[in-house]
Amino acid sequence: MTDPTLRLAASDILERNWRGRHTVPAGGLYPHQWSWDSAFIAFGLRHLSARRAQQELESLFAAQWQDGRLPQIVFSTGLDDDAYFPGPRFWRSGDLPEAPAVPTAGLIQPPNHAWAVWAVHRSDPQESRRTGFLERTYPVLHRWHEYLRTRRDRGGSGLLAAVHPWETGMDNSPAWDLPLSGVPRHDLELTRPDLRHADASERPSNAEYGRYVYLADRYRRAACDDADADFPFLVEDVGMNALWCLSETSLAEIASELGADPFPHHRRARAIAEALHGLFDAEAGMYLARDIRTGERLAPRSVAGLLPLLLPGLPTAQQLLATLRGPGFRLGETVMVPSYDLTRPDADPAAYWRGPAWFNTTWMLMRSLRGLGAHDEADALRRNMSRLALGHAFPEYVDPWTGSPHGTRLFSWTAALVLDAETDPEDTP
Ligand code: SER
Repeated sequence: MTDPTLRLAASDILERNWRGRHTVPAGGLYPHQWSWDSAFIAFGLRHLSARRAQQELESLFAAQWQDGRLPQIVFSTGLDDDAYFPGPRFWRSGDLPEAPAVPTAGLIQPPNHAWAVWAVHRSDPQESRRTGFLERTYPVLHRWHEYLRTRRDRGGSGLLAAVHPWETGMDNSPAWDLPLSGVPRHDLELTRPDLRHADASERPSNAEYGRYVYLADRYRRAACDDADADFPFLVEDVGMNALWCLSETSLAEIASELGADPFPHHRRARAIAEALHGLFDAEAGMYLARDIRTGERLAPRSVAGLLPLLLPGLPTAQQLLATLRGPGFRLGETVMVPSYDLTRPDADPAAYWRGPAWFNTTWMLMRSLRGLGAHDEADALRRNMSRLALGHAFPEYVDPWTGSPHGTRLFSWTAALVLDAETDPEDTP
């Protein structure tokens, strides 16, 4: 780590957002524990305390449902119900037989957890072995991936399906506009505590929220059972599936370390990679999500379509690199990687997932570039991420051209991922 000021500032944020066994993404806007946030946060915590990184992941794993799912949100019980919407009163998970004792949401988020567990292990193998970290977490991760494989392959293609934009982690991505347009809007008055903490122009609109709430409510009414053949939103998202594939590869590493047979995990990783390849679109120069209900590819090019670059030996890597460097994403000219195709007239540099650059996606692509030998480009991204994080109080996301900050501040994964990039700059996916 070259800059002690950055290390200190990042660890201050992780300390401030630590709640005893987990880290909140941001005190006001996201006051509970989020699933894929925790995995990204663990990548940073591992450089400060292996014990804390383990706790971060294991407090999420303690909320695993009996069906194997890891929930999108684990709710903190000491907060008012209006601290976040939809909160524990909306989900009423305690009424569902498969849910854990702690209150959680019923949806999921991208499966980056096995990848994080393996990274936490690698950063301090002795401590990991001493505490039996992999022995405890391997069965959890195995059941999580089995849930995805058996309950979420809604299109029969071998890929997992998202039943809600929140599950993709990229809530209002333009890729979801078309499938969402057919979803009815919830007709109750909306509660938007998020607007107390971020500017309305930087958050999803009320029209989007009305549909988000309809989908969440319908999913909950069906006891989150993944069996509604007519469910109005079913998409195969590229980012979720790329992370699933990468995590399956990490499970193979974990199995080997434990003396178990890695072969079934390698076989599943290969099967996901092959199915994912069916989403490659040569004209778009990237992978595109698929709407299971119509069978159509979803044309808007979002940063999710570049995330297969995380996968080793990807046959389309050079095409994806050309797209990342091309007019849509402008690597080298932009300060960080934009979330949406810059050539589109509706790209908005401040609106959540409709154009701004985020630290998690930029960090994933930075690691991918390094894995492909593009060290100068990876270093430039690392330097920009550190400069913008430190200069703007660790923002949630930034304008990809100017670097001006947007969303909330003191954001945990921003702190964790710049800490990781600076501490272990040579690490690859
Ligand atoms: N990203 C969602 C929100 O904005 C939750 O996962 O609240």
